[in-house]
Amino acid sequence: MSKIQLTKEQEDTLIDMSLDARNYAYCPYSKFRVGAAVLTDTNEYFKGCNIENASFGAGVCAERCAFQKAISEGHKKFIAIAASTDVDTFPTPCGICRQFMAEFGVDILVLLVRHDRSIKTMTLRELLPEHFGPSDLGNSEP
Ligand code: THU
Repeated sequence: MSKIQLTKEQEDTLIDMSLDARNYAYCPYSKFRVGAAVLTDTNEYFKGCNIENASFGAGVCAERCAFQKAISEGHKKFIAIAASTDVDTFPTPCGICRQFMAEFGVDILVLLVRHDRSIKTMTLRELLPEHFGPSDLGNSEP
């Protein structure tokens, strides 16, 4: 399947919202702010940030936070997600987030946003090849 093409407006909104979401990061331990914004098939956007915890394993990444907000509002189909940090690299999602997001489709676009707004766009298929997903348990995609 060919890559989904975002409109300029969708791309700009995802970039802006992910950069803004960093402001809500709760990261007193790592001091590494991450912001994310996800776009649903209904053209709605949900922001997320990383939320850490004194019991480190209880923290959540920005990407999963954004997805969980959307899923808990009834969304199961996603077009794209953007993620931003404060450092000068393209922020690739961690392995747990890749697996979490792949549940909802490997054609989802992942926009890796640098703080100067430059982006690198990849699909989840590229980020998590040969993934384990719903079909491995005989289920169809949500
Ligand atoms: N983090 C994310 O929010 N997303 C990722 O994909 C990588 C890591 C967060 C988790 C933790 O709060 C901080 O960044 C440092 O690992």
